[in-house]
Amino acid sequence: MGTQNNFKKHGVCPPIAVLCSGQGTNLQAVINAIRARRLRARIAVVISDRAAAFALVRAKRADIPTVFVDPKHYASRAACDRRLIAVLQSYQVRLICLAGFMRVLSPVFVRRFRNRILNIHPALLPAFPGAHAIQDALAWGARVSGVTVHLVDEHVDHGPILLQEAVAIRPEETEKRVVTRVHQVEHRLYPKAIQLMLDGRVKLVGRVVRLKAARA
Ligand code: GAR
Repeated sequence: MGTQNNFKKHGVCPPIAVLCSGQGTNLQAVINAIRARRLRARIAVVISDRAAAFALVRAKRADIPTVFVDPKHYASRAACDRRLIAVLQSYQVRLICLAGFMRVLSPVFVRRFRNRILNIHPALLPAFPGAHAIQDALAWGARVSGVTVHLVDEHVDHGPILLQEAVAIRPEETEKRVVTRVHQVEHRLYPKAIQLMLDGRVKLVGRVVRLKAARA
């Protein structure tokens, strides 16, 4: 597969971290966007709380350093998060991107990296927060699902919204098909949101995000 990016050719690319628990298709979308130069960043480290996460395989294939932090080794959520903080500090990352990272982060963690943590969620928040958003939307009979990229605050799936896009749920559509279409939107939106953050174009007014114009 080769390396994720050759940043000598790009100039200096801001280091980011991607945190995953599962398949890592969003991680792959970020890797691909960097390779295609749609995203000017360097993934300095991929961290997972699951040893078997396929995301770790994707990272290794792209020559990205990986760290597995096993929550079972820590007495409390805060203790585990202190280890995460130490790893992230050692890589001096500018931005932390949660991509299917299914752990709730403690206030200690959120405070340490305030407004520098992004999350992607497969629903139009504040509708359908939680770990089973697409299934919950289908079970509710919702006609619209979607994708939200937001800043992480102390509450679950709650922080200021950066980008959002709706995905219509068609009648008789299988769950698998909805998941595929939601993922397609995620893979397009997440690299875009990361670039907005790295370009300093995100301004908060209360909890509302205002996007500053791109510099010429
Ligand atoms: C993504 O759909 C992401 O939005 C979701 O987990 C999936 C991870 O897929 N995250 C949440 O539900 C967070 N509440 P991936 O591992 O293939 O990127």
